[in-house]
Amino acid sequence: MPWFNRLALAVVGLLVVIQVFRPSRINPIVEPKNEIAASLPVPPEVADIFNRSCGDCHSNHTIWPWYSAVAPVSWLVAYDVNHGRSELNFSEWGMGNPKKNADVLQKICKEVQEKKMPGTFYPLLHPTAKLADADIQTVCRWTKTVQLGTSAGAKPSTPDSSELRLKIGYSIARRNSSDGKNKQSEQANFLVASSLGKLKVSRG
Ligand code: HEC
Repeated sequence: MPWFNRLALAVVGLLVVIQVFRPSRINPIVEPKNEIAASLPVPPEVADIFNRSCGDCHSNHTIWPWYSAVAPVSWLVAYDVNHGRSELNFSEWGMGNPKKNADVLQKICKEVQEKKMPGTFYPLLHPTAKLADADIQTVCRWTKTVQLGTSAGAKPSTPDSSELRLKIGYSIARRNSSDGKNKQSEQANFLVASSLGKLKVSRG
């Protein structure tokens, strides 16, 4: 058998064998009260950006494409999702402590401004994840607004389009608005953390 046939056979064999190692692809159960929109007002245009550009790696609403079941791609995707969720999980926002959340908010703006997120590879496979300059401004304007607490007490506004894909709990927050007391105290915690000056806000 010529050498290249043997090589091809070896590669195919290896690809078959590595399929045994399957990383878990789990979307943990979502508690509506922990979704970010239950703690902070998230306007539809911001929710839309997070949904299309970040949610697969930073929420429990991950859509796992078929190739994410095939090793070795599955290992890379699972690694991204696990690490992404551990840094920032929109679906578990309510479980983070206020100081950490304030920190993460700042990082969200920084990461998109420096074009580190959503990364280079992900948008190649998910063209809608690409962020235009206007999207980046929308994100940073929002992080600054919630950091400054100018929206204190503000309720999430109503979405203006029923077609919005609102994976990140925006609609859930509204459904849960009976839980208002809880929401307000979370927001209060958050504001206390900011006003204690633990949070450095760069106005720009
Ligand atoms: C393909 C998966 C993926 C997508 C999509 C993605 N991220 Fe990430 N993100 C990660 C991973 C993995 C990490 C942790 C490792 C790192 O910092 O690179 C991370 C880290 C972060 C951090 C923490 C950085 C730090 O220094 O602590 C923030 C904030 C963040 N991402 C925001 C976003 C935002 C906002 C979006 C959408 C615009 C986004 N990410 C899209 C995978 C992703």
